[in-house]
Amino acid sequence: MNHAEAKKKVQHLRDKINKANDAYYQEAAPLMSDREYDRLLDELRSLEERFDLHSPDSPTRRIGGKPTKDFPTVQHPVPMLSLSNTYNSEELDDFDRRVHKLLGHDSYRYMTELKYDGMAIRLRYEYGRLVLGATRGDGIQGDDITANIRTIRDIPLNLSGNHPAVLEVRGEAYMELAAFAKMNNSRAEEGLSVFANPRNATAGTLKLQDPSIVARRPIRMFAYDLLIDDNNRERTQQEKLDMLEEIGLRVCEHRTLCSDIGEVHKVIASWATIRKDLSYETDGVVIKVNEERYREILGQTAKAPRWAIACKFEAEQAVSRIRDIALQVGRLGTITPVAELEPVSLAGTTVKRATLHNEEEIHRKDIRRGDQVMVEKAGEIIPQVVSVVRQNDPDRGKPFRMPETCPDCGAILVKLPGEVAWRCTNNQCPPQVRSRLEHFASRDAMDIDGLGQAVVDQLVSHQLVTTFPDLYRLKAEDLVSLERMGEKSAQNLIAGIERSTQKPYEKVLYALGIRFVGITVARDLANAFPTIEELMAADEASLCEVDSIGPRIAGSVRSFFDNPDNRGMVEELISFGLRFRADKEPAESDTLSGRSFVLTGTLPTLTRSEAKELIEQHGGKVTSSVSKKTDYVLAGDEAGSKHSKAEKLGIRIIDEPSFFKMIK
Ligand code: IVH
Repeated sequence: MNHAEAKKKVQHLRDKINKANDAYYQEAAPLMSDREYDRLLDELRSLEERFDLHSPDSPTRRIGGKPTKDFPTVQHPVPMLSLSNTYNSEELDDFDRRVHKLLGHDSYRYMTELKYDGMAIRLRYEYGRLVLGATRGDGIQGDDITANIRTIRDIPLNLSGNHPAVLEVRGEAYMELAAFAKMNNSRAEEGLSVFANPRNATAGTLKLQDPSIVARRPIRMFAYDLLIDDNNRERTQQEKLDMLEEIGLRVCEHRTLCSDIGEVHKVIASWATIRKDLSYETDGVVIKVNEERYREILGQTAKAPRWAIACKFEAEQAVSRIRDIALQVGRLGTITPVAELEPVSLAGTTVKRATLHNEEEIHRKDIRRGDQVMVEKAGEIIPQVVSVVRQNDPDRGKPFRMPETCPDCGAILVKLPGEVAWRCTNNQCPPQVRSRLEHFASRDAMDIDGLGQAVVDQLVSHQLVTTFPDLYRLKAEDLVSLERMGEKSAQNLIAGIERSTQKPYEKVLYALGIRFVGITVARDLANAFPTIEELMAADEASLCEVDSIGPRIAGSVRSFFDNPDNRGMVEELISFGLRFRADKEPAESDTLSGRSFVLTGTLPTLTRSEAKELIEQHGGKVTSSVSKKTDYVLAGDEAGSKHSKAEKLGIRIIDEPSFFKMIK
């Protein structure tokens, strides 16, 4: 390849990766598998290296550069103000009266948006390129965190559409609740400290000095303001939000233009219910005068503009009593204390348990058995104990003490240096065995249908299974003695276990449950060491040469494979036909290129993820809902509303055999 060809190829790869990013994040409809994405990125990275074709806006630059010691300080050309708050409707009416009085008329409108609970950031684009990302700091000057900002996949490095030469975007960085919970769970499992809420996690992450760590945290962003230096007083908030969307940023989907304060009240009332279905945290609604020219007249105080106000929701909290502090044993032996509460109703559900995270957290909040406590739904999903309500009771229980032995199996507990969690040292401890098996069968690992918590519990308590190879020794007749296990479901489970032997090497590596080896690390390991023999022979130094792997992960992989029991287990799994070597890249075809599919119902032979993988391998894409843009609905048994919607829209409905014909 010569330089000109390389340049062309590099451009092509950048476009393809940027499109994949958009599809993944803006439309939640992946265009390619993660593996394909990583492969393209690798190819791009190596071409850029070889032909010296680096560019600050290349998607390879998102992965994060070198750690820095301190962030440089940046001045904000326009101060980043905060908002005044109100908690009730009278104060909101007062706000409107003030606006009315200062303007002297009522021909203004209000834009309402959600108030995201994250961290304010500022972006600067010059000639369409992202040149700066900064924190709010004290509002006048903040930290230049550009390297970290570049890792956020929601933030375009290059703007699309028509845009002014220089512009500034303001918005909120945040974490989705599910991603936050997942991150915290794995941190707890690894014995690391957990974040109290998505906001702290976001702020803590964006202030890290190593952008490659930031790149692995699930940070996202909503834009809420656009600053263009052209003195156009005719602009409105509505136009700015539309423009932000057009140039490639995410804006509030729940924005409403209101012609008076009465409409604003209605919007706020409806949000009390909408917020429960959101996948991220909001702590209120922001009300902004829509017209720029009126904003100018209204001006601002030292801290906040007079043209906007935040109407905040009360946090959802309730008081309960701690009946007991139970201890849960996790997959890697981590002991997590959990408060067993007197049932209390909170944000529409009954809460009976709340995580206490670890011993340190309990001592910090001085939580004891029998205490009255304030419970809050952090991130609306995980209940937490915020604080103790009543402290001065002479009959108050003793301070909490972690036992010296495992509450389940009696083995000694240890705390590793630098960690906050205690661990059980017996890896045959029943809860550990159960969670290892659940992890092995989980969707991102071996994806064994029908092998959920209840079945695993029974398999372990009937001593049918204690290790992964035991699963592959099971026969349908072993299962029929289990509760709620008919002949049919027993056969299905055995078939599911059998099918799992076809899972690719990287999934098998992930399924083994090696400490610190998540999906990404497993994939990197599989790429760098294409056979298990090579991986088992690799020393820590060669493991550390892999991109995402540092000494901590390398040490853990090494000690896993140094254990003769684990080596024996791998041998056994190989004998059952599990894949322990990387596949050759699947032959690419573009038979389905540009075609969009929706899957519905149960297909006779393919699982959903297999069907999706096949479609993608042939250049098609899969989206979740039927629309005019859908080309085919691939329908199996018991297809529901998607089937009828497709009929209504006149979209072709095909079955599995016709699908196979298409890709033949
Ligand atoms: S507009 C002049 N819109 O709330 C200030 N702010 O106290 C303009 N925030 O840290 C801010 N969602 O980051 C605006 N839709 C939204 C917002 C929002 C969250 C945050 C903002 C700032 C704080 C203001």
